[in-house]
Amino acid sequence: MNKEVVDFLLSRSSPPIQELHEPGPDDAQLETLIRIASRVPDHGRLAPWRFIVYRGEARVRVGQMLADLAEKREGPLPEGRRNQELTRFSRAPLVVGVVFTPKENPKIPQWEMFLSGGAAAMNLLHGATALGYGANWITNWYSDVEEGRAILGLSPDERAVGFVHIGTFAGEAFERPRPDAASLFSDYAGPWREQDA
Ligand SMILES: Cc1cc2nc3c(=O)[nH]c(=O)nc-3n(C[C@H](O)[C@H](O)[C@H](O)COP(=O)(O)O)c2cc1C
Repeated sequence: MNKEVVDFLLSRSSPPIQELHEPGPDDAQLETLIRIASRVPDHGRLAPWRFIVYRGEARVRVGQMLADLAEKREGPLPEGRRNQELTRFSRAPLVVGVVFTPKENPKIPQWEMFLSGGAAAMNLLHGATALGYGANWITNWYSDVEEGRAILGLSPDERAVGFVHIGTFAGEAFERPRPDAASLFSDYAGPWREQDA
């Protein structure tokens, strides 16, 4: 047994995004993260996902466009809310968008492809944490809005699995209540047919 890995899996958690600071992963670490993220179960080897990296000035530009879109949809925003939109992508030094890119396949349903994207995002969280960073996976309102997805670089047929914010976290390990594992599983109990019992 690899106790270190088991303890790692039992203790990983996401710090708040506003507490993810510089430095973020460097180029070599980013490549490692993408290798980890793409090493996931993928029925039919379709690679139905891709990754968009938001870093440097691009993060600020995204915020400006999201603030403008929010204003177009909702009318003039109070200053606090506008600032929230402006800084959506510039809190952490690095944001990796995990994008579901559906592939046409006669045998493999698209929901399986989407799940593979979820596995990629989860691997990104594990990978970033293993490299010593904090990471937090969110979607937020712009993922559910076509114009929002376009701002973020997605095409109309693509969906956001999520945006993983990554940076240095210097605080105490952030813990939230977890469900009691014993209450989450049960032995299979049917359905039996009477004659099989
Ligand atoms: C697909 C997905 C989307 C999420 N979107 C948001 C979001 O938009 N805003 C938010 O505050 N948290 C969101 N979360 C939750 C954060 O990831 C949250 O901080 C997380 O549940 C912390 O769990 P952990 O400590 O086990 O990593 C989302 C989680 C998932 C899986």
